[in-house]
Amino acid sequence: MNAARKAGRPGILIAIEGIDGTGKSTQLRLLAGELVRRGHEVVATREPTDGPFGLKIRELFLNRGQVSPAEELALFVADRREHVRDVIEPALAAGKIVLTDRYYFSTAAYQGAAGHDPEAILRENESFAPEPDLVLLLDLPPAKGIERIESLRGERLNEFEQEQNLRRVAAIFASLRRPCIVRIDAAGDAAAVHGLILAQVERLLAS
Ligand code: TYD
Repeated sequence: MNAARKAGRPGILIAIEGIDGTGKSTQLRLLAGELVRRGHEVVATREPTDGPFGLKIRELFLNRGQVSPAEELALFVADRREHVRDVIEPALAAGKIVLTDRYYFSTAAYQGAAGHDPEAILRENESFAPEPDLVLLLDLPPAKGIERIESLRGERLNEFEQEQNLRRVAAIFASLRRPCIVRIDAAGDAAAVHGLILAQVERLLAS
């Protein structure tokens, strides 16, 4: 699939997506570092954010049962509205490269796994959130993602990360269809995956 820059806005928006344990945060850091070295102005950000809705969401990591699936979806969308208004849109208007660790494709996959219609979630988000120029969807079997979370990070799985749930999430990520999505094999080591990502980003910047 050919990623192409969105006409009519000065900046570039790249989202890194995938199930937990795929190495999104490491890859975002490596990509941001490389782009800055090449002289680009980069804004690295993430969802859930560190704003009030993001903090509320992080409380749910330990006990999702505190809210209904509909309330949970509403929290992610409210968090994103603030993120778009306060961080993403101003940076794009200023011509920066915005790298976001998760975006609305995560809502389609995770809240889709909780029973909502993934396509309806995409459409709702597309009504207010700028479409990325490129979505790097890191692809990894759920069992591998879980292995990385537990052995490398030494963490227990939070409630979004339980294996059955991650299988459903992975299946929805695999089913998402948008021209901006490019799938990246995340099974290799960090340097190898970084190389795959950089090739896609170079293609976008040249387009
Ligand atoms: P994660 O990127 O793993 O945050 P951290 O590394 O800081 O713990 O994201 C937290 C969890 O939130 C993750 O398991 C996926 C979930 N999530 C959703 O369910 N919906 C969303 O829209 C987003 C952005 C995240």
